[in-house]
This record gives sequence, C-alpha cells and structure tokens, in this order.
Amino acid sequence: MVKTYRSGRLVVRALDAVTLAIGRGEVVAIVGPSGCGKTTLLHCLGGLEDFESGDVLVEGVSLRQMNDRQKADLRARRMGFVFQSYNLLPVLDAVENVELPLLLGGAGPKEARRRALDALAAVGLEQRVKHRPAELSGGQQQRVALARALAPAPAVILADEPTGNLDSEAADEVMHLIHRLNRENHQTFVLVTHAREVAAQAGRIVYMRDGLVVADESVAARA
Ligand SMILES: Nc1ncnc2c1ncn2[C@@H]1O[C@H](COP(=O)(O)OP(=O)(O)OP(=O)(O)O)[C@@H](O)[C@H]1O
Ligand SMILES: [Mg+2]
Repeated sequence: MVKTYRSGRLVVRALDAVTLAIGRGEVVAIVGPSGCGKTTLLHCLGGLEDFESGDVLVEGVSLRQMNDRQKADLRARRMGFVFQSYNLLPVLDAVENVELPLLLGGAGPKEARRRALDALAAVGLEQRVKHRPAELSGGQQQRVALARALAPAPAVILADEPTGNLDSEAADEVMHLIHRLNRENHQTFVLVTHAREVAAQAGRIVYMRDGLVVADESVAARA
C-alpha cells in the first residue's frame, strides 16, 4: 500500500509499499519512530484515509471497492477506533460519549446505557461517568476513548497509542483488559505504541520506519 500526503509543494510518502496481513484474533503492536507512518497506516486500515495504490482487505472485503458510506458502515459494524487525540465530544459526558456509537448502531437507550457503563467500569472509570472530557485527566479521557471503541464489541479494534497517557500500572491494566477480550471474544487488536512494555505484551510486533515495515516478529506467548 502506498499513501502520500501533499501540502503545497511538499509531498510526503507516508506509507511506502507496506504489506501486512493480520489474522483474526491477533494482538499486534505497531512501533516505530515519530512520523514513520503508524497513524497513517491505522487510518488506512480503518478506511479513514484513502491511499493511492494497494488495497486493504477486511475479512476478505476490499476497502478500495467501497464508497465512503460503505466504509463508514463497515467501521460501525466491525471496527472500534481509538484515536491518538481521543476525539471525544466535549459537550457529552463520559457515558454519553461511550453510548453514542451504540445508539447509532441501533441499540435501545437502556441497553446502550448499560453497555456504556459496563465498558467504563472495565477501564476503571465507574466514578467518572458524568464528567465531561474537560473535567477528566488525559489518561482518563484516553480510557473513555478506549471504552467507546470497546463498547460495541467490534471484531477489530484499531488503537493509536491507547496507553500513551497512562502510567505503567494503568497501562498494564489496559493491556490485561485487551488480552482478556482477545481471549474471551477472539477480538483482533492493532495497537500503535511507543511503550516497549506494551509492545512486549502483544503477540506480534511490527516495526516501521520511514513508511516501511522493516521487521515483523512474533513474540513468545506470555503467562
Ligand atoms: N494530513 C497530513 N498532511 C500532510 N502530511 C501528513 C499528514 N498526516 C501525516 N503527515 C505526514 O506523514 C508522515 C507520517 O505521519 P503519521 O502521523 O502517520 O506518523 P506516526 O508514525 O503516527 O507519528 P507519531 O508517533 O508522532 O504519532 C509524517 O511525516 C507526517 O508529517
Ligand atoms: Mg501517530
């Protein structure tokens, strides 16, 4: 897959012939220096960005063949996204942010509320459900964003630095949650991370540099 950004006369080749296959039920960490294309890759995998050449197949279905509406529909049904900058809605409190995708997906208000509260409890935020993003710390906002991605129980979760604002203890708890969901529900996780400890807990580490995948290694299963 190739992806370039143009701003004025400057052309940046953010992804340069990246080829990557991720199997169902994998937990994959994507690591590499700042600017190497990790966020771009995640956005392309989720159909949030177009690319010039190549394709992304999600469960055998080509994103290239889909229009924006179809991609949005696929995301809503099958994918959860944790953005690097969270993208929480500032006027909604934590539980409202988390239940929004559930309501959009057709859940009734009672069920959406219950599942949203469950997801917030799973990330340790049961005491903060009525707080708006501005009333939450960075790490708490990050966990709300994670709860929002997890609440609809998507098959694939694409998470950009999901532990970037957490101390090592909170990051460990998030990784435990991810592994539990992976084991119990066979959900697939693609995690962009700077943290060695987080990457080391993934089943596989994909190393990127300058828009390329430079190494791809399986990690021995941890107890
Ligand atoms: N919208 C954009 N317009 C122009 N260039 C962009 C755009 N988004 C990203 N880029 C460029 O593409 C390259 C890859 O960016 P990307 O955000 O994917 O990096 P990253 O690996 O996620 O970095 P970080 O670890 O800092 O988040 C960078 O050189 C960046 O400047
Ligand atoms: Mg990034």
